[in-house]
Amino acid sequence: MSRDPSEAAGWGAGTRCVWAGEASLGPDGATVPPVYHGVTYGYDDMAEWKAVALGERPGHIYSRNTNPTVELFERKVQELEGAEAATAFATGMAAISDTLSALLAPGDRVVSITDTYGGANRIFTEFLPRLGVEVTLVPTHDAEALAAEIDRGCSLVYLETPTNPTLKVVDIARMAESARAVGATVVVDSTFATPINQRPLELGADLVLHSATKFMGGHSDAMGGVVAGSEALVGTIFRYREINGASLDPMSAFLLTRGLKTLELRVERQNANALEVARFLSRHPAVEAVYYPGLESHPGHEIARRQMRGFGGVLSFALAVGDVGDVEAVETVETVGTLDTLETGESGEAADAEDLVARFLGGLGLAHRAASLGSVATLVGPPSTTSHVELTREARARAGIPEALIRYSVGIENPSDLVADLERALGQIGVHA
Ligand SMILES: Cc1ncc(COP(=O)(O)O)c(C=O)c1O
Repeated sequence: MSRDPSEAAGWGAGTRCVWAGEASLGPDGATVPPVYHGVTYGYDDMAEWKAVALGERPGHIYSRNTNPTVELFERKVQELEGAEAATAFATGMAAISDTLSALLAPGDRVVSITDTYGGANRIFTEFLPRLGVEVTLVPTHDAEALAAEIDRGCSLVYLETPTNPTLKVVDIARMAESARAVGATVVVDSTFATPINQRPLELGADLVLHSATKFMGGHSDAMGGVVAGSEALVGTIFRYREINGASLDPMSAFLLTRGLKTLELRVERQNANALEVARFLSRHPAVEAVYYPGLESHPGHEIARRQMRGFGGVLSFALAVGDVGDVEAVETVETVGTLDTLETGESGEAADAEDLVARFLGGLGLAHRAASLGSVATLVGPPSTTSHVELTREARARAGIPEALIRYSVGIENPSDLVADLERALGQIGVHA
């Protein structure tokens, strides 16, 4: 096998994770590409400088525009998504907002779903309408209504699948077909799936984007975003981003690239761990519902089987609020946030959802109580303090997010330890079947 970049399309995903974009060794034969912290790049030859500045020759001028370390990250994502081009951003939200800003104009119409990530949802409900862009948000589970709204005509269809936090699955191929008929551009936030589990461009999407902060980096130590697709569309977004200035920092690009090298390994482990945890939870009497597309009972399971290679490392579950019985004292509460102030040891009183969630989280000894997802470490938290913190209790209920919902992003720990941790915490909330 050669490391000719033209071979990359034929490589397996694991090989692309390691080698894509790395045809040759770095300077001085370095086996790990260096971090180019330089902001500016010098030229002795004016003609060459001008040609690079005009984009007529490859090269770098100024790191807000392009940077070799950032470019390596972009090449890897491009190869993993099977795209012609990719461009990176400082955060996932920068990728989303720059993509929408670059492609939309007053008078355009966007069709999307109600379950997009909270930040994207705010762009749709607050920012785009202010700029004269009409936005129609369709209940995520209603594929007929979503297709019908696309059929009415629009310039952009924005999807996210699986969704945050209730893991709904949207049929990308079906919506892309409707979008093609009306000439709309389809953008898919595939953060929860990763390019290992889902390749939206193969399903007819025009652009795929990620919060690279999550699975791509995989270690909760760098923020970033990326969008991949055709040269033409990515070029339009790049030209907006280089002026808007939401460029990815080279040190973060280095960490994200290092994370990408193990993406396939991590995601395969997280897929397996999540399925095992989901199956355990779905049998537990203290759990009312489990939301994971890998479970046969999940309403999106069939579509997920068609469009995903694995079901991902994130799941959520609702604690059974109604059945709360005697409450055991929580003896393993750690001093994290406000959890140490919980009243424990009450008896015979039905705790409300918030109290139940707090007591459950307090009983976990292994999973890390924190926002975000996609890390090597299991991260757990309720949407009411993470993805949907801005929404009122009523708005969360309207969005179909139960108050006793827990989002659980499975890490690469041994699954038996995760299950034991969950079993202990569920046992302590004292729910009787
Ligand atoms: C699905 C999804 N898309 C986008 C984002 C935004 O990414 P970032 O936090 O890197 O801006 C998030 C963040 O949680 C997310 O979960």
